[in-house]
Amino acid sequence: MSTTTTYEIASDVFRLSIYVPEFDMQFNHFLVRDEEPLLFHAGLKGMFPALREAVAKIIDPEKLRHIAWSHFESDEIGALNHWLQVAPQAQPVCTLVGKLVSVDDFSLRPARGMTPEDVLTTGKYRYRFYRSPHIPHGWDAGVLFEETRKTLFCSDLFHHFGNVEPVTTSDLIGPTRKAMQQLEQGPLAGYMPYTRQTEGVLRSLADLKPETLAVMHGSSYRGKCDGLLIGLAGVIKETFDR
Ligand SMILES: [Fe+2]
Ligand SMILES: [Fe+2]
Repeated sequence: MSTTTTYEIASDVFRLSIYVPEFDMQFNHFLVRDEEPLLFHAGLKGMFPALREAVAKIIDPEKLRHIAWSHFESDEIGALNHWLQVAPQAQPVCTLVGKLVSVDDFSLRPARGMTPEDVLTTGKYRYRFYRSPHIPHGWDAGVLFEETRKTLFCSDLFHHFGNVEPVTTSDLIGPTRKAMQQLEQGPLAGYMPYTRQTEGVLRSLADLKPETLAVMHGSSYRGKCDGLLIGLAGVIKETFDR
């Protein structure tokens, strides 16, 4: 679990990927280089030494200022306190629900709980956090959008299996559908609900017109992302609306 593959998927956005053969799955973490560097996905505690080493090849890990993620699960947030110890000025960044419900009790330092009205500026880049309750899962779920380069950090959305290429410009819908159907056959079935809100949330993310999707498990995507986000709503309905 210790080899990290680093690839710059968009300007200043580095994808730090660790492939776990037992799950046939990549765990991807995204470091954005800026005056105030930001890491999206703190990662599992077990991955922390490898990730710290990978981050150190790009920036001084002590200079990290923002550690962000989508929802409270170990692959998103497990090593948060490790990062907070390494980087004395770093602050956790998540949805307001995440902060209020779980994070401030778990974290060594209080989180910045964001609503879509809040803007986080890190130098060249500016971010907003959009709530996406129960998409992919978790009441506290959200996605982070970097507005100047139109990068959507979308967590488990579009997850797919395999030790795949860092970034693709071809369709992500096919691999995502296959992965969802595969997961539904095993012990992790039901990991994503379909609700009356699902399509509306994904349509509002499509309205942001992202140009890069930073995907947690599998290849990231470059290109027009709005059609993919609307297509994803259809795949979630087809898989989980039973
Ligand atoms: Fe998750
Ligand atoms: Fe995940």
